Amino acid sequence: MNQIQSYINQHKDRFINELFELLKIPSISADSAYKNDLLKTAEAVKISLEKAGCDTVEICKTDGNPIVYGEKIIDSNLPTVLVYGHYDVQPADPLDLWDSPPFEPIIKKTDLHPDGAIFGRGSCDDKGQMYMHVKALEFMVKTNQLPCNVKFMIEGEEEVGSPNLAVFVKNNQEKLKNDVILISDTGMIANDIPSITTGLRGLSYVEVEVTGPNRDLHSGLYGGAVANPINILTKMIASLHDENNHITIPGFYDKVEELSKEERAEMAKAPFNLENYKKALDIEAVYGETGYTTNERNSIRPTLDVNGIWGGYTGEGAKTVIVSKAYAKISMRLVPHQDWIEITELFTKHFTNMAPEGVKVNVKPHHGGQGYVTPIDSIGYQAASKAYQDTFGKTPIPQRSGGSIPIVSLFEQELKSKTILMGFGLDSDAIHSPNEHFGVFNYLKGIETIPLFYKYFTELSK
Ligand code: BES
Ligand code: MN
Ligand code: MN
Repeated sequence: MNQIQSYINQHKDRFINELFELLKIPSISADSAYKNDLLKTAEAVKISLEKAGCDTVEICKTDGNPIVYGEKIIDSNLPTVLVYGHYDVQPADPLDLWDSPPFEPIIKKTDLHPDGAIFGRGSCDDKGQMYMHVKALEFMVKTNQLPCNVKFMIEGEEEVGSPNLAVFVKNNQEKLKNDVILISDTGMIANDIPSITTGLRGLSYVEVEVTGPNRDLHSGLYGGAVANPINILTKMIASLHDENNHITIPGFYDKVEELSKEERAEMAKAPFNLENYKKALDIEAVYGETGYTTNERNSIRPTLDVNGIWGGYTGEGAKTVIVSKAYAKISMRLVPHQDWIEITELFTKHFTNMAPEGVKVNVKPHHGGQGYVTPIDSIGYQAASKAYQDTFGKTPIPQRSGGSIPIVSLFEQELKSKTILMGFGLDSDAIHSPNEHFGVFNYLKGIETIPLFYKYFTELSK
């Protein structure tokens, strides 16, 4: 057992208990009722960074939830790692689908986590993964092994599109100056198949509103004679994909990067079992764009999905009504080179033009961000790869993820540095869903792997 492993072994109960305390605070950024809990969480993160050995930690006010900034600068000639993470979490609903309360963390064994997993909202996304970095810092400082400078920037609005982070980054260029950005807010293939995330999809999120008559109408008296906004909206949505599941918005694919045969063949080498995939989701068949595999569909191809749709009568019994308005929330996952502003405009134009006379359409853009790809020949990637090799005994596989962390491309633009995505969650950890969990193995393995990244990054930077 090496020094990191014995440190972890000795302190693992405390590491888990400290994370439990963070998980108990319901820091739901989407719901303003939890404002105070977000402040409490920021305060708790601040204290944990101070205890772990940061020299200065501050809570930086923004127009929304504060950003916790901390640093330990040991020598300005050494490289600087900037750690980003988020302390806010997704809403926990539907509550009745949780087997244990979302903000009362508990360890339970699962098939994929025989050593136990920590169940609770935010356990994997992202409190658990963010806290691995705090504990890795604690180890490096307490044992005098911090090889370079470190800065932490932990925000409280990631789950709502980071509306105030861009301004903070732009106004604090000097403070945030770094040589590499390190984030654990993604996943890996399996506990025995380590991988490093090399790509994230971009995002355009819109809300649409279709208005028909100026008031709700009797569906007998007016039915058949006026446009029903719900009928129209669903028809319009259905037309956004063709029979090959291609998206029909003109210009949508213009900038999509087509991967070469070689790149696709390389991607196909990543272990993937379609039967297990279907079984885990209880589906008879997968579904998606013709001509692409499941792993391509959810990483290198763009998508359009309805996330919510409402309107009309949904209460008990029946009500015969043609309502005035129908709504939907739609997300488009984008791939590198697609510009989210441009895609939002293309969507708006198409969706508005497509509407028949007799209804009015309003498209309200919510938020979005660009996709991201990172090369595997950078010092940062190489350092991460060596770190995983040491702790997992295997070379990690580079893998593009389908999820989005829009701020990553902004970091590159503003701070001119690459981001390394060392995620330790599994796709099956149910982030954003009921029963979110994070393997104890994954949590501790992360704490073990991170200090090695610092070590190799510093060595390779020389
Ligand atoms: N941590 C996730 C993103 C993620 C998860 C990326 C797993 C790759 C693998 C992040 O917290 C998230 O949920 N992002 C949102 C976008 C944001 C703008 C709300 C997403 O991907 O839906
Ligand atoms: Mn996250
Ligand atoms: Mn999330």
